[in-house]
Amino acid sequence: MLTETASSTTESDFAIENFRVSDDDLPEFKDMKFENINELHLDHPGANDAEYRARRDHIAGLSKNFRMTGEITDVDYSPREQRVWRYVAEELEELQQRYASPFYLRAKKDLGITTDRIPQLSEMNRRLKELTGFRLAPIEGLVETRGFLSWLSYRVMLCTQYIRHHSQPAYTPEPDIVHEAIGHIPMFTNPNFADYSQFIGHGARIATDQQIEELGRLYWFTVEFGLVEHEGDIKAYGAGLLSSFGELEHAFSDKVDRRPFDLEEVINHEYTYSDMQPVLYMIPSYAELKEVTKKYIETFNK
Ligand SMILES: [Fe+2]
Repeated sequence: MLTETASSTTESDFAIENFRVSDDDLPEFKDMKFENINELHLDHPGANDAEYRARRDHIAGLSKNFRMTGEITDVDYSPREQRVWRYVAEELEELQQRYASPFYLRAKKDLGITTDRIPQLSEMNRRLKELTGFRLAPIEGLVETRGFLSWLSYRVMLCTQYIRHHSQPAYTPEPDIVHEAIGHIPMFTNPNFADYSQFIGHGARIATDQQIEELGRLYWFTVEFGLVEHEGDIKAYGAGLLSSFGELEHAFSDKVDRRPFDLEEVINHEYTYSDMQPVLYMIPSYAELKEVTKKYIETFNK
């Protein structure tokens, strides 16, 4: 997930192509830029729980090790954290059987993401790298839009490792391991989706500030809240849907205007963070999403 601010640094042009990045060609993780991400907003259910805050900050701090060494540190999750995971993962699993994209459901199994225990980023990272050349990089929290999206250009997804507060397991105002592992990570095993994400990343590196806003909306209505057609049916593949009971049920209710995906419309569609999504877009396939996005990003340098 990302924040609303955009920075104005852009890079010079390069080929808008898909490629896997070797360890040697990755930018240095220690050069990662991010905002003040140790802040916990007052509407967070754990904001007044000193023990939770200390634990969240400890886990967030592990990403500093990663930036220095490039190695993901496993988290020794507590029994209470495991209980939060089991509760949320089981509830979501039931809903996902009805609403999630079949590709996603298979991928979740393939990655060994179960309701039993919190998966480690290191395990999922190893498998992803083999399958699509995508990597996971631990991060403390939200990152500004250009910085976050630009990492996708190197087939890197920034992920948090801590888990939401136990008082409200159905809700988190910030990304957590549930959002990353149940929402985002399985879809990066899809070659077309992985390539599509890389194109967004390429775009972020060369976009004007206005184009960054457009890319943020494209990301929002696909990677976070996307629907896909499947054998005459509609299924969810967006992480914001797949990791939220409320959003997932709502997405398939009468309250939502489900529209065919139209790139021009999507990149101009303002959205809000705070409410349930009133409009969602259905892509015909991940391959078509990739193609139309590639053409769009190719116009950035012209
Ligand atoms: Fe997200």
